[in-house]
Amino acid sequence: MGLFKFYKKLFVINRGWRNGMKKQILQYLQKNKGGFISGQQISNVLGVTRTAIWKVISQLRQEGYRIESLPRKGYRLVESADVVTPSAVQSELKTKWIGQELLYFDTVHSTNDIIKQKAIDGAAQGLVVISEEQQKGRGRLGRVWNSPKGTGIWMSILLRPKMSPMEAIKLTLLAGTAVCQALRETTGLEVQIKWPNDLVLHGKKVCGILTEMSMELDQIEYVVLGIGINVNTEDFPDELKEIATSLYLERKQKWDRSAIIRKVLEIWEDVYEEFVETLSLYSKLDLIKQYSALLNKEVVVILNGEKLIGEAVDIASDGSLIVKKLDGSEISVISGEISIRGLHGYV
Ligand code: BTN
Repeated sequence: MGLFKFYKKLFVINRGWRNGMKKQILQYLQKNKGGFISGQQISNVLGVTRTAIWKVISQLRQEGYRIESLPRKGYRLVESADVVTPSAVQSELKTKWIGQELLYFDTVHSTNDIIKQKAIDGAAQGLVVISEEQQKGRGRLGRVWNSPKGTGIWMSILLRPKMSPMEAIKLTLLAGTAVCQALRETTGLEVQIKWPNDLVLHGKKVCGILTEMSMELDQIEYVVLGIGINVNTEDFPDELKEIATSLYLERKQKWDRSAIIRKVLEIWEDVYEEFVETLSLYSKLDLIKQYSALLNKEVVVILNGEKLIGEAVDIASDGSLIVKKLDGSEISVISGEISIRGLHGYV
């Protein structure tokens, strides 16, 4: 190995070690939140020098954590920062593989684009990319996804499922269900699924999912699952005000984005693993129906440019939406083919 490569490797190992230590110190402070722990105590538990601890504490402060330090008493975490850095997200993350490798950016064009490039470079599935801001956030059907700095969760997950593209289409609906469950569990808000891949609160969109797939000879190379959640957004541009909302606007309360990310990744890992094994939506069908914002509502289906009015009456076991038309006949609508609106407004 050349000298340059050797030092580069050493630098990467060192950085990995430092990040690991940061995670552990943060965890330790979080466990003792409100109380002081001495540098000596941390040093004994983690087996690192007090100078190394002091350096990590300075980094955490720079990330926005308020950590008090007093002579002879030690350190005390006063307030967790609303940051979505790897140390904040991974400090209590209970997944086996999703998000165990996590890249964090201050600003990017689109987290989906970053993941795509990493996938092409051979990254393993489970890689997560999070950015505080997206300058060219993308939505479905070529739309722009509003992604202002520090307010939301703009995140992409790399997956390499061994299944046909027809099966993989169902991942979007499943991901929507997993995110819906995660948001309900962390906030208590009654988030609903607007089939197949929007999440809504009181009829306004709070989350969107953009799944992008790369295929070769009918084999999936990789899937990029892009998730955008309006978490602490206080205000939307005029053109979105009527159709978009945030978790903040529902309760006038700021939410911990890292905690939400962790819950999303944990639930998604379980849901995804089960689907890869069974290739069936069966066990999630009741939940999908229970969370549905469309069932028993009048909807407008725009299918191949044609507008159909009907009532959403069921979700079939393959994930398709069953719509009863005005003439009483039923059609089955497969996700990805359509655009759906409520007859009276967004949902
Ligand atoms: C939609 O509702 O149209 C889908 C919106 C998806 C937005 C997310 S934010 C993270 C990821 N990066 C993007 O550019 N888009 C997705």
